[in-house]
Amino acid sequence: MNSKTVYIHTLGCQMNVYDSDRICIRLLGMGYDRVSSAEAADLVIINTCAIRAKAEQKLYSLVGRLADLKKKKPALRIGIGGCVAQQEGEKLLNRAPCIDFVFGTHAIGRLNDLITQVERSGRRTVDVKLADCPDDDFSYAMNPSISRQISRFVTIMTGCDNYCTYCVVPYVRGAEVSRPPEHILDEIHMLADSGVREITLLGQNVNSYGQKEGWCNFPELLKQISGIENISRIRFTTSHPKDLSEELIQAFSTLKKVGHHIHLPVQSGSDRILKRMNRRYTHSDYLAKIDRLREICPDMAVTTDFIVGFPGEDEADFQDTLNLIQAVQFDSVFAFKYSDRPSAPASRFSNKVDEDVKSDRLGRLLELQKKCTLRRHQSLIGTRQVILVEGRSPRAAESNQAIVQWTGRTSGNHIVHFSLHNRNGSPEPDLTGQMLSVQISRSFPHSLWGDVIADETDKVYFSSKQS
Ligand code: 5AD
Ligand code: SF4
Repeated sequence: MNSKTVYIHTLGCQMNVYDSDRICIRLLGMGYDRVSSAEAADLVIINTCAIRAKAEQKLYSLVGRLADLKKKKPALRIGIGGCVAQQEGEKLLNRAPCIDFVFGTHAIGRLNDLITQVERSGRRTVDVKLADCPDDDFSYAMNPSISRQISRFVTIMTGCDNYCTYCVVPYVRGAEVSRPPEHILDEIHMLADSGVREITLLGQNVNSYGQKEGWCNFPELLKQISGIENISRIRFTTSHPKDLSEELIQAFSTLKKVGHHIHLPVQSGSDRILKRMNRRYTHSDYLAKIDRLREICPDMAVTTDFIVGFPGEDEADFQDTLNLIQAVQFDSVFAFKYSDRPSAPASRFSNKVDEDVKSDRLGRLLELQKKCTLRRHQSLIGTRQVILVEGRSPRAAESNQAIVQWTGRTSGNHIVHFSLHNRNGSPEPDLTGQMLSVQISRSFPHSLWGDVIADETDKVYFSSKQS
């Protein structure tokens, strides 16, 4: 076969992973085959992230390597998409002569025309128009070339209207726009039909889903998705603490498919810094939301994001952050050193914090959190959890017996490894996609070990023999 090949390299967040699938489906439609290295490709696309300077630097080092490759392979085409493409536009072409085209976060729907034009004319092109609503092509769910997975992302809204002072998202992803509920439901139906069992709904602030458009609100959307047969679990990210409503908190208990995990980025424990960040809640507002979540769902897992070294953050502010970690006892956290983003207002704030102070605070924060995570994991020992099995664990079985090790996740999103013992030589059933009960027997820094509860195993074994 004489088809063209594309390599897509994804940097950044889950929304970029989803967008790369949308890019891929368009290229498959144009006759491209997807390959797993730039060396094997006729076209390379980098889907970029602008959230911190480090992510942006990754792009430039990749482009440097592609420039060398293009010297050996002059027919190679290179396209840059995503948030850095949106932010830099034409400047990327000036900076790197090897780049053939640049397409922004709202240009995926116009990508076919853009590539066709570049292929025909050989002219370098830029499309970073932000005016469009995001397009709604969900046909990829039916495409066999997109690998079959148990868990998939579905973007329900794009952009952000919150304008936190450190954040580049409103400038590179545009204003908040929600997708119509019927499009989202159609997409999830298709995914469920193709074998997907868990859906993670994506948006910068899912709590404000549908508000501007006057469509159903987020808890109502969750209820409708819960009605889709074959979807066993629903997750979502990200929730803004200021918009976490009582109705959504209640949904964790009334909608049985919604996982008992919330990612609720707090960013800082200092009221002074939260104000400078334009977050519009206080340390005590945040603690009150956590108390309410745990009142409704005592087993709720809570994760968060922190930025350390925001302009003006002093040691007392940082202590407020450590105090908040102690008070909440998060299951895990993502923590970042503040990074200046030229389009975000905080880049013009005074009292910048030295890099070595940021590094010191990041280290202390992570050290404290390590202990909290271990404690949280230990507290799960002896509990019974229902896990969704994701597949065979890449890790080798513990003993030298030929035991298959499996991996799944609890409702709270904790990773559980397990194996089926004493099968007396009977073949191992494929458990992927099954809901299985386990009793947690051991805890590790990043995962748990579970013993499968016998009667459930027999049921699974029986059902897999039937199929
Ligand atoms: N510097 C450091 N971290 C940032 N984040 C967003 N913008 C910045 C920045 N300028 C972090 C926040 C956010 C996460 C996705 O990235 O913690 O929740
Ligand atoms: Fe950025 Fe704030 Fe919007 Fe999150 S809510 S995407 S941090 S502006």
